[in-house]
Amino acid sequence: MNSYPEDEGYRAWFDQKNVLITGGLGFLGSNLAIRLVALGARVTLMDAMLEDHGGNIFNISEVKNQIKINFSDVRDEGTLKYLIKEKDFIFHFAGQNDHVLSRRNPFLDIDINIKGTATLLENCRKYNPDVRLVYSGTRGEYGAAIRLPVSEDQPLHPRGIYELSSSSAQQLFQIYNDNDSLRSITLRLTNIYGERAQMKHNRFGVANWFIRLAIDDSEISVFGDGTIIRDFLYVQDAVGAMIAAAATERAYGMVLNVGNDTASNFKELAETVTRIAGAGRWKYAPFTPERAAQEPGDFISDISRIKRIVGWSPVVSLADGMSRTIEFYREHKEHYW
Ligand SMILES: NC(=O)c1ccc[n+]([C@@H]2O[C@H](COP(=O)([O-])OP(=O)(O)OC[C@H]3O[C@@H](n4cnc5c(N)ncnc54)[C@H](O)[C@@H]3O)[C@@H](O)[C@H]2O)c1
Repeated sequence: MNSYPEDEGYRAWFDQKNVLITGGLGFLGSNLAIRLVALGARVTLMDAMLEDHGGNIFNISEVKNQIKINFSDVRDEGTLKYLIKEKDFIFHFAGQNDHVLSRRNPFLDIDINIKGTATLLENCRKYNPDVRLVYSGTRGEYGAAIRLPVSEDQPLHPRGIYELSSSSAQQLFQIYNDNDSLRSITLRLTNIYGERAQMKHNRFGVANWFIRLAIDDSEISVFGDGTIIRDFLYVQDAVGAMIAAAATERAYGMVLNVGNDTASNFKELAETVTRIAGAGRWKYAPFTPERAAQEPGDFISDISRIKRIVGWSPVVSLADGMSRTIEFYREHKEHYW
């Protein structure tokens, strides 16, 4: 098993602790699970294996004998009630996160992201009020940036139902935190890329999609003039933020942006991916109507709050993160597409 020296300072928080990760077979959940197991945590993953999402058994192959898996749905109160009992931490990552699907059928977002979150919180309030919760919100809750970088205090203007449902879920966490002393942290994540993501379609996870196209020696379409910027973040940096935040007493009750100080535009992203892969090529292309409707423009997270409160900052450059990700998918491609 790999070791993660950067996490060692948090061992006392997680060693022999019971941790539940909802959506745990997906991209973020599985990467987190692997690092928590290395810290001595007793990890249970729950996942409904939602079609076309990131749930993938291969994701947890290196820890499969050290974790428990429960195939169930976060909306199923009967199962959830038992799964949450005696857990010290719950990371809530189960979600409908397909932005394009959300425009075609918004009820899944409302049902899973809002009702599922409410089901989790209500059951925690009743059956495990001492648990600590971490929720993975999205930068999309801000909508178009009023100022860059975007701090947690900027107003929320979600542009779609997915983003609205994430914002509603975050507010549910806040209400239960403030009214019922159910301690929680919301992390507002930027665009994350890296190993163990869904790579079958391009409806979410744009940076990973560029990687797939490059590995397949195909053509990447860069929409518009390619100058829109994002603070792409490598998944192991994002997982570092989850672990560090969950182990910071002062972070409970807060919303914390998790992003990158260094932004790149989409043209630079395509150039970096094709250069590092040594394959693929890119061209400019007009926005599809669905992409245009959801494109909020430039985005960079202001991460000064998480730096100050938690002491976390990203450490992996775009080039290094891409290189590690490309190596992973080249080796394990048959499990992802
Ligand atoms: N990856 C990112 O860049 C990013 C950015 C911002 C926010 N988020 C949020 O973080 C969370 C995890 O994202 P991810 O990238 O790991 O996605 P993912 O699709 O890889 O993982 C989500 C997992 O949740 C499971 N799931 C969905 N609905 C469920 C339900 N009702 N019950 C149980 N399991 C269910 C899916 O089967 C999947 O395995 C999502 O809520 C997403 O919106 C992700």
